[in-house]
Amino acid sequence: KNIVVLASGRGSNLQAIINAIKEKKINAKISLVLSDKKEANALKIASENNIKSKFIDPSFFASREGYDIYIAELIKKENPDLVVLAGYMRILTDKFIDSFEGKLINIHPSLIPAFQGLKAQKKAVEYGAKFSGCTVHFVTKELDNGPIIIQAVVPVLPEDTEKELSERILFYEHKIYPQAIKWILEDRVIIEGRKVVIKNAKY
Ligand code: GRF
Repeated sequence: KNIVVLASGRGSNLQAIINAIKEKKINAKISLVLSDKKEANALKIASENNIKSKFIDPSFFASREGYDIYIAELIKKENPDLVVLAGYMRILTDKFIDSFEGKLINIHPSLIPAFQGLKAQKKAVEYGAKFSGCTVHFVTKELDNGPIIIQAVVPVLPEDTEKELSERILFYEHKIYPQAIKWILEDRVIIEGRKVVIKNAKY
């Protein structure tokens, strides 16, 4: 099976997926990493692991639609089983989302539908939530709010800052993202309307 990853930054989730492949927990290959940011550490991680990677400069495109049409073509050439957003910070156009429906997943650092959008960990701390976590979900046209594949819960401790909560959540991101990818590539994930059913899930 074949995965394409889109990333804009640090790339720690990309690294976690690469590790899971190396450890043979996921039976797949990452055929391409795409980034909209030239300096993305994710691109460095890709090249260190001999994975094909490309920076596609948004400033060369007149519109968001044009950019997404271009990257959709690059992705389709790889014929991926799954397209993984791993800290990809550009909002995708409806057409892009439609063309990868059911094959496009994201990780968000909150228990959706709570704290959607940017700075989810900061929002959880400021809101006074006692628990937060992370969610892997299918991408739909609603931002950070598609059918939920897996979530992990962490406590928000009284002295937590955004940084501490983010680190606690990130630890679980690196566990649940590879787990969700494994299930999907094993064809064990069924979308039933709003809900996702996992066949024979062992947590
Ligand atoms: C993660 O917190 C993820 O939940 C969010 O963006 C961050 C990406 O981190 N969508 P990294 O680039 O994978 O290290």
